[in-house]
Amino acid sequence: MNRFCERLGVEVPIVQGGLAYLAYAELAAAVSNAGGLGQITATSLGDPELLRAEIKKIKQLTKKPFAINFSLGRGSVDELLDVVIEEEVPAISVTAGNPAPVFERVKDTNIKKLVLVAAVRQAQKAEQLGADAIIVVGQEGGGHLGRDDVGTFVLIPRVVDSVSVPVLASGGIVDGRVMPQRLRSGQTELRWEHVLLQHKNVSPIQRTKKQFFQRPKRILL
Ligand SMILES: Cc1cc2nc3c(=O)[nH]c(=O)nc-3n(C[C@H](O)[C@H](O)[C@H](O)COP(=O)(O)O)c2cc1C
Repeated sequence: MNRFCERLGVEVPIVQGGLAYLAYAELAAAVSNAGGLGQITATSLGDPELLRAEIKKIKQLTKKPFAINFSLGRGSVDELLDVVIEEEVPAISVTAGNPAPVFERVKDTNIKKLVLVAAVRQAQKAEQLGADAIIVVGQEGGGHLGRDDVGTFVLIPRVVDSVSVPVLASGGIVDGRVMPQRLRSGQTELRWEHVLLQHKNVSPIQRTKKQFFQRPKRILL
C-alpha cells in the first residue's frame, strides 16, 4: 500500500496499461480483481455505445476500481468522455496529447486522472493541471511518447524529483526479477504491458491477441 494505492483505491501499485484493440472489460476486470488497476482502452473502441457496453460489463465482473484509457490527438473524444462521466467510472488515463481539455470536461466529477508522459516538462504540466498520478513511459515501452528517446530508468528519477504526485514506471519492466530493482531505484509504482501480452496463462489476453493478429490493424500509440 502506498500513495498511489490510497489515491486510486487499489491494493497493489500495478496498472495494466492501455492496449489498443486488446484491453477490454475481461482483461481489465482480471487485473482489478487481482488488486491492481485494470484499464479498458476507449479510443480503439471508438464508438461511445461500445464503450458503454464494456463499462457495464466490467461493473458486472468487478466491484474494484478500474480506469478508461484515452489516446488523444486523433479527433474528438467528447462523446466517449460523455459516457465515462455518465457511467461514473473511477479513473481515466490519457496519452499522446494535451490532457487539459479532457481534465476540463471531468473537473466536476470524482474521476481520478492519470497522465502518460515521456519528459519532465510534460510531467510538471500534468501535475499543474491536476493529475492524480503520472505514468512515465521510457524508450523501452511500445509506443514511446517522447522525442528524445530517453530510457525509462533515466527518466524516472528525473520525474520523481520534479513532481510531488505518485509516479508510475512504464516500459521495460520485464518481469518479477526486474521489478524489485526498479522499485529500489526510486519509483514506487509499475505498469506492465508487454509482460501481460506474453503471458500464456492470461486467457483474455490470449483470446484478444489471437483476434488482434487475425485482423491486422494500424496501431496508433
Ligand atoms: C500493443 C500495444 C498497444 C498499446 N496501446 C496503448 C494505448 O491504447 N494507450 C496507451 O496509453 N498505451 C498503449 N500502449 C503502451 C503501453 O500501455 C505502455 O506504455 C508500454 O507498452 C509500456 O512498456 P512495456 O510494454 O515494456 O511495459 C500500447 C502498447 C502495446 C504493446
